[in-house]
This record gives sequence, C-alpha cells and structure tokens, in this order.
Amino acid sequence: MTKRIFILGVSSLVAISAYAAQVETSKLKQLADIKITAYNHQLRTTLQSTIDLGTLKRSVKGCESIAQNMLVQNGTGGWDLERTSLKFRNPDNKPDAWEANQLKQFQKAYDNGKPISQLSVERLTSVGPKKVVYKYMKAIEAEPVCLNCHGSNMLDTVNENLALNYPNDKAIGYKAGDLMGAFVLKKSSALDNFI
Ligand code: HEC
Repeated sequence: MTKRIFILGVSSLVAISAYAAQVETSKLKQLADIKITAYNHQLRTTLQSTIDLGTLKRSVKGCESIAQNMLVQNGTGGWDLERTSLKFRNPDNKPDAWEANQLKQFQKAYDNGKPISQLSVERLTSVGPKKVVYKYMKAIEAEPVCLNCHGSNMLDTVNENLALNYPNDKAIGYKAGDLMGAFVLKKSSALDNFI
C-alpha cells in the first residue's frame, strides 16, 4: 500500500511552506524492512553459533559488541540502526520521549491481540529549512534463542555476567512470543532526495 506522510515542521514557522510537500515513504519503509531482516538473520545465526560454542558461559558482554557491530554494518547508506525497549538492559538503548510513547502504543496493541509482526510506525520531521529525518520503528519479538540471555531461567554464569555488566538490567523475564522492544531506523537527508 502506498502511503504519503506530511512532513511535520518542528524547527521554525518561517520554513513551513517548504514542508508542505508530501513525501513518498513507501520506498524508505521497504528499505528499512530489508535492513531489519538482514540484521535479524545475521544476529540469530551469530547468537546460535555463539551459544553452540559455549561462549555464552564466558561472556555476555561480548554480545554487546557483536550486536553493535552488526547494527553499524547494516546501517549503511545514511541509515542509522538502533534497538530500544521500555525494559532496556543497556542504558545507551533507552528510548527518547517519542520512542517511549510508540513503545507504549505497541504494548497496548499487543495486549489487545495484534500480532507483533504488524506493529510498526513511521514519522517524518524537518530539521532546518530543507532537511528531513525519516524515522521508522518496528517491534521485536522474543524467540526461544533470546531467552538464553533475556529469559527467567538462565545459566548462573549468565546471571552473574549480566549483574556485573548491567547492574540495572530490565531486559529479563521474557517468554517466547513476548514483545521485547523495537528497532529504530533513522535516515536524514535533503528534502529533494526524499521525493
Ligand atoms: C548471548 C546473550 C544474548 C542473547 C542470546 C540475546 N541478547 Fe539481546 N542483549 C544482550 C545484551 C548483552 C544486550 C545489551 C547490549 C546491547 O546493547 O546490545 C542486549 C540488548 C538487547 C536489546 C536492546 C535493548 C536493551 O535491552 O538494551 C534488544 C531489543 C534485544 N537485546 C533483543 C534480543 C532478541 C530479540 C534476541 C533474540 C533474537 C536477543 N536479544 C538475544 C544479550 C543477548
């Protein structure tokens, strides 16, 4: 389905006429979804082999650098790829006000029976006279492999490792199928490039 979004002017009223343009976002959403799929695939394969190799017992923190590297790798072409959650483990992943609001909406929809795969939201904002930022959030579902480090019945070594590295960890106690958080993809560009 083709979707058009009006750009929200956030910086100044002077430039509002420049933002009256409508921007086609379906291509951006498509690209964002491709990046998420690639990232998911890469992360899952690596997590599984990490666990199979027994590395999990030695270092949970190592997963942070693996996950972060993958986020950077998949965030090419001017994209910035992150993950966030209301119950975050790493304080660097704390949602901003808009993201927290969207995560609450996701949670509400999920509680009302909407499938996680259908939870996403997009937004365009203007920064300066001719620059726009596209932001896309897509919900993340807990899978069995995730519960090794986000479940409620984890190895002692994992619990110890988490306590040591993330003293305020909120990202535990999940079951498979739970809503865990969301991917956040951002792309900023000149207005002309978006149309
Ligand atoms: C080997 C341990 C491990 C496994 C398995 C694992 N994670 Fe994590 N996860 C972490 C660590 C450590 C962090 C915090 C570091 C970071 O920012 O990546 C984290 C962070 C996250 C975050 C970012 C929000 C936050 O809490 O900081 C999300 C979302 C997330 N994990 C989802 C998943 C999903 C979904 C899976 C399964 C596909 C998964 N994790 C599997 C260790 C793991």
